[in-house]
Amino acid sequence: MIWFLKSSEGDFMSKILVLYYSRSGNTEKMAKAVAEGAKNAGNIEVELNYHAEADELDKFDAIVLGAPTYHHDMPIDMKKLFEEAAAKGINLKRKVGTAFGSYGWSGEAPKLLLEIMKNRFEMQVIEPPLLAKYVPDENMLGMCRDFGKRVSETLIHQA
Ligand SMILES: Cc1cc2nc3c(=O)[nH]c(=O)nc-3n(C[C@H](O)[C@H](O)[C@H](O)COP(=O)(O)O)c2cc1C
Repeated sequence: MIWFLKSSEGDFMSKILVLYYSRSGNTEKMAKAVAEGAKNAGNIEVELNYHAEADELDKFDAIVLGAPTYHHDMPIDMKKLFEEAAAKGINLKRKVGTAFGSYGWSGEAPKLLLEIMKNRFEMQVIEPPLLAKYVPDENMLGMCRDFGKRVSETLIHQA
């Protein structure tokens, strides 16, 4: 699922990447709602994607990661993405970052990702991460939209 949601207002727009992994669809539902919320907050371009190259991460003003927890860990693709970004010296300093994800009983993945964004890449992270137990219900999807909106508002206020 790849969306590009663009505003027609103005030439300069902040860009948000909502990058997610989802095996059984729960984190994908959250990701769609986060992207909707981010778009609704204002003059922001939102890319919703399940794949990103390390080289392109620095074109975004905010990176929002959707990561379910499997075996107490983050998705291997995200681990590899950050390893490659570190190896290539991609500069994400002071960019906005946050994470969310579905989980069953421990939910480590979004917290691990926030640690990397904060400590290795010196990103400005929004904490705590947003966690949904298994399938996100309507109430949780509303929280996801609010979460996305908060990311956009953070960018708008610092522009
Ligand atoms: C093989 C397997 C391992 C799992 N390991 C964990 C785990 O370590 N901690 C946890 O909180 N949930 C764990 N879960 C539950 C998933 O995080 C949960 O089903 C989540 O909703 C999956 O999200 P997704 O649909 O986006 O893939 C595991 C599920 C499976 C099938």
